Amino acid sequence: MSEQGSTTANEGHQYPPDPELAKTANARPEMKEQGLEEFWGEQGTQRLDWFTPYDTVLEWELPYAKWFVGGKLNACYNCVDRHVENGKGDKVALHVVPDDGPDSLESRDITYAQLQEQVVKFANGLKELGVGKGVPVGIYMQMIPEAVVAMLACARLGAPHTVVFGGFSGKAVAERCNDLEAKVLITQDEAMRGGKTAPQKTNADEGLDAGPTSIEKVVVVRRSGNEIPMSDRDIYLDDLVADVSGDPESCPCEPMDAEDLLFLLYTSGSTGKPKGVVHTTAGYLLGVATTHDLVFDVKEDSVYWCAADIGWVTGHSYIVYGPLCNGVTQVLFEGTPGYPDKDVWWKIIEKYGVTILYTSPTAIRSHMKWGEQYAQSRDLSSIKILGSVGEPINPEAWEWYREHVGAGKAPIMDTWWQTETGHILITPLPGITTLKPGMAQQPFPGVRPEVRDDEGNELGAEETGNLVLTAPWPGMMRGLYKDDQRFRDTYWSKYSDAYFAGDGAKYDADGDIMLMGRIDDVVNVSGHRLSTFEVESALVEHADVAEAAVASRKDPDTGQAIVAFVSLVGDKEGSEELEQALREQVAQSIGKLARPATVIFARDLPKTRSGKIMRRLLKNIAEGEELGDTTTLVDPTVVTDMQKQVSG
Ligand code: WTA
Repeated sequence: MSEQGSTTANEGHQYPPDPELAKTANARPEMKEQGLEEFWGEQGTQRLDWFTPYDTVLEWELPYAKWFVGGKLNACYNCVDRHVENGKGDKVALHVVPDDGPDSLESRDITYAQLQEQVVKFANGLKELGVGKGVPVGIYMQMIPEAVVAMLACARLGAPHTVVFGGFSGKAVAERCNDLEAKVLITQDEAMRGGKTAPQKTNADEGLDAGPTSIEKVVVVRRSGNEIPMSDRDIYLDDLVADVSGDPESCPCEPMDAEDLLFLLYTSGSTGKPKGVVHTTAGYLLGVATTHDLVFDVKEDSVYWCAADIGWVTGHSYIVYGPLCNGVTQVLFEGTPGYPDKDVWWKIIEKYGVTILYTSPTAIRSHMKWGEQYAQSRDLSSIKILGSVGEPINPEAWEWYREHVGAGKAPIMDTWWQTETGHILITPLPGITTLKPGMAQQPFPGVRPEVRDDEGNELGAEETGNLVLTAPWPGMMRGLYKDDQRFRDTYWSKYSDAYFAGDGAKYDADGDIMLMGRIDDVVNVSGHRLSTFEVESALVEHADVAEAAVASRKDPDTGQAIVAFVSLVGDKEGSEELEQALREQVAQSIGKLARPATVIFARDLPKTRSGKIMRRLLKNIAEGEELGDTTTLVDPTVVTDMQKQVSG
């Protein structure tokens, strides 16, 4: 088990809820007492606008749940149109902050009415390309408003989207689109991040042109405006929507069944290709809206900022669907934490009066490394609630976040969830929970976790085991795209009666939950989820590589870092050039974030006599730990050679 279990100087610190906050908080302690269907049913009636009301809250036939059965609704209607109809058309939906920061001449606001017009036009344009209900669409973009508009336009039409992280390779895009047989891909001319431009559209082309592709049309959003190669397959968004109407009546929101597909999102598993996680309409939307509202204590005048990327589930749930369903004003930042200056985040908070910030431990650790002077130089007094997501947060980073971003008083919501769970499941609640740094602590109302040993026994305090969920929740995945068997094998076979999350966890004596990191071969680099298997597959694509195995080690900045063990063909020798070439190989094949931090060349990988790679040993070597028993190895000297490279 990795990370987090470590004791720290801050262990034992507790922060009781602020009584003032408790008085006005949206979350009420009684919610925890409610029955599962009672709680979610009540939320479902209050929070969503239905074209046809549902008749049954839940039908549960493990492992498939149906929520709000019989109901009809549209996610785009709930996120956009209804706010305009309710007189909130002039409210700012998005404060758009471009890569060069809030002082940029390109920074601008988009109101809900403007958002609606843009979504309607985009949807009308997509219709002309044959997109409609049930027709999947690929999206490969950066953090620009058109990405949000594109997702909502798909939702309006009932076309499931699959967003591929803009930093992934064109190959990754092509594979995912082919898997879905998507015919339309939406991308942008160039990416602009951290002061650099990158060829987004050309990257996509490279992937699409490398083999047979299902994609027939590529819609290109102009971002940099630079000249880029265009072919007959491509059309600029400007041209696509030049003559279409922006009147909502020209493109009504498609009435979707509660259980109709809303989107697919591919995520890494421990083996095999990325998995296409299926999310449906009503349960997902209700789950993200409820959690967003109660966890971040959203008010009419809140200014919310989730600094995630729409390419990951956090962006889907807590930039697009949750906040917009709640009609909030939010910041959409295109750039990175350190550009144009290390205080850009704090400038954004100051300029827009951000009240809620939701980010990752990795980002907090970057700021921490640069020093608190940047945060101190800006007025951050608007901040009321802070959030953390994506990986365990170490108590030092937690305390720093509270002290320097939250003025020593803003409560931090350490939210645990997954692509598969759709929304937050374990989290403190503002005004209710006594906070403990580094722990996600408590199940959200209507969520039923347990910690079990491998035999299925429920564990008590301070016993580390596997986190499971014993009851369904609205935003839970509705399977893996066209792969029922893999869905059952991965999540529902370890225990016959519960969802197996793949995370280690333990309860403390007060009944608070601490997440201990993944227990499978999923690596979490800067909160980005990767599988060792995918990285290994990328490495063996290089002609000099005979075999590769990948492990992870703790990293003070990125949480975990990838360590690759590589044996070479014939009498090839490892070199710095080859190390660079291998890292580049991984970047090309998956994306830069998957590049190994360390490459270790070996004569052979440590194998048992039956030819099995001893992964546990690789993990020990990567972490610089004592090795256990190595007598079962064919050649125990390979590991001593590897250890020398790590320590050298
Ligand atoms: C990890 C991201 C500890 C966990 C929303 C999970 C966390 C994986 C936390 C899912 C947290 C996420 N504390 N670990 N607060 N949040 N994780 O699918 O290992 O990209 O299984 O979803 O991130 O990553 P995913």
